[in-house]
Amino acid sequence: MKRTLGVCYYPEHWEESEWVTDASRMAEVGLTWVRIGEFAWSRMEPTYGQYDLNWLDRAIETLGAAGLKVVLGTPTATPPRWMLTRHPDMLAYDKMGNPRGFGSRRHYDFAHKGYRTECARITEVLAKRYGANPYVAAWQTDNEYACHNTVLSYSPTALVAFRNWLAQKYQSPQALNRAWGNVFWSMEYASFDEVGLPNLTVTEASPAHVMDFRRFASDMVVEFNRIQTDIIRAHSTAPIAHNYMGQVTDFDHFAVGADLDIASWDAYPIGFLSDRVVASAGYKRRFLRQGDPDFQAFHHDLYRAVGAQRHGGSVAEGRWWIMEQQPGPVNWAPWNPDPLPGMARLWAHEAFAHGAEAVCYFRWRQAPFAQEQMHAGLLRPDCAPAPAFYEAIEVARELAAMPQVGTARAKAGLVFDYASDWAWATQPQGCDFSYFRLVFETYRGLRRLGLNVDILPPNTRDLSPYAIVLAPGVATLSDAFLAALRSYNGLSLIGPRTNSKTANFAITIPLPPNLPNMDATVARVGSMPPDCVEPLADGGAFVHWREKVETTANVVEHTADGWPALIKSGGIHYLAGWADEAALTRILGDLCAQAGIETTPLPEGLRLRDSATHRYLFNYNAFAVEWDGRTIAPAGVDWQLL
Ligand code: GAL
Repeated sequence: MKRTLGVCYYPEHWEESEWVTDASRMAEVGLTWVRIGEFAWSRMEPTYGQYDLNWLDRAIETLGAAGLKVVLGTPTATPPRWMLTRHPDMLAYDKMGNPRGFGSRRHYDFAHKGYRTECARITEVLAKRYGANPYVAAWQTDNEYACHNTVLSYSPTALVAFRNWLAQKYQSPQALNRAWGNVFWSMEYASFDEVGLPNLTVTEASPAHVMDFRRFASDMVVEFNRIQTDIIRAHSTAPIAHNYMGQVTDFDHFAVGADLDIASWDAYPIGFLSDRVVASAGYKRRFLRQGDPDFQAFHHDLYRAVGAQRHGGSVAEGRWWIMEQQPGPVNWAPWNPDPLPGMARLWAHEAFAHGAEAVCYFRWRQAPFAQEQMHAGLLRPDCAPAPAFYEAIEVARELAAMPQVGTARAKAGLVFDYASDWAWATQPQGCDFSYFRLVFETYRGLRRLGLNVDILPPNTRDLSPYAIVLAPGVATLSDAFLAALRSYNGLSLIGPRTNSKTANFAITIPLPPNLPNMDATVARVGSMPPDCVEPLADGGAFVHWREKVETTANVVEHTADGWPALIKSGGIHYLAGWADEAALTRILGDLCAQAGIETTPLPEGLRLRDSATHRYLFNYNAFAVEWDGRTIAPAGVDWQLL
């Protein structure tokens, strides 16, 4: 697979006379792809049923004639104002019960039937008109599902749809009452029409109710997306993508991915460090202008797995892109420093090293108007090049000179399960318990040891390609995964908190973790605030969470107060708490040694990634790093044949 670069472009933002120059400059930079259209509905259909697509024909023609390939976005993330007049009840509602109105974007409820029909209509118009256009070489559905917290909607529309969804699932209110445990606090329902949404309750709603609401909300995204993919496929053979986000878990991306040919995501490393990564002030200072050294890589690996869902095959070979790559300062994070020189190049190569087919910078030219006027592009608002323009040229040259790099399958597999993130957000039992963070810290621990990691969906049926498999915090292990674990000959590290809930969000009896051939019972659990720890006898500590396990299995490590911390039965290990960095590094290092995996402890900020043919080194530090006889420049990338 040839690796390519691209850019996001908004022809409707600029005079038509500028398009031709823009297109030829894009080609000169060495870009292959240009994504357009995803917010242009008010220009495609200025009033209901009156289409104006001639400008889009000309834009596609201009870009295509310059040698660029177009990714055409469906414009459904930005319904025009007239849409609201037609469907006044299409808005999503926030948890306080207020409609989320017009004047920005994503002002729709995924479950709204009328809006779905409008989306199907505009998608069909575009798919018919451009499905066979030789320049339209890929599609993007909508834009960033879930952005601005738009998956969970507490609208009258959602209420009706939720009741129908429950009726389908449970068939009778009695079955729902049993499943949710509604005898508790006299919450029983006599009909599905009595069930409400789990907001505006006096105190917390039933966790089973919340979990079903979250499953329902996720299903609405899947349905919404599928309407568009079905229509596009009827008219076009070009691959279809959606652009997912960083650390957004509000819908099951594996389920949406099953309808898409390519998973893509939008990488804003410096914005994420400021906005999402949990770390000390010193750590954030150190990587202020580079981003977190593991955050992007985690998502590359996650979305590579999401990209494998439709066409099967190994998660290592899923098709994925970066649809939007930060080029300079963004506008939306609490602080928006400008990237260190070299980062726009490093981020792109890092994505390619993880198997990305394409990296598209967001955006071509900075807009001098509206909400994102402070968001950099490859060009400044006055058309002069911004620093990333030159870095993109450099990457394009390097790609042209490079052999194909291919993707290697990792020896370590790490499970990521969206429903577990919903579960622990529903009942954290410790207000800072974050499933995402637990998995991400495990990922970081593996990367510190220099390992490639494949992310595995929770229903993975075959673990045999991996020497080690990790499944921290999976609320309910699927039957498929348990069966895979039973026949697995490698080492696994399960827990904490794994397999502790039934599918209906009740405590499992027998008590957890109920792992194959392991006699162990989690008899008691406790959570702790960030400044309190439970030391382990061999060093390091449990943080956030610890469990007291009764077991006849082999105890590998103890807590300082004498409880089993790590137990083992056959190849299966159970970890009875959230290990801090020191403990995790030791435990992972020991397991890798037993599994015969060679580890390479890395200096802070330096990361390794092996492709099928090359070893890449990424230096996220603002200073040069000496490693393995080589000097890696600040914000530098290095690669060599394996
Ligand atoms: C993304 C979004 C883009 C743009 C960008 C700014 O979340 O898809 O449309 O808003 O962020 O960083």
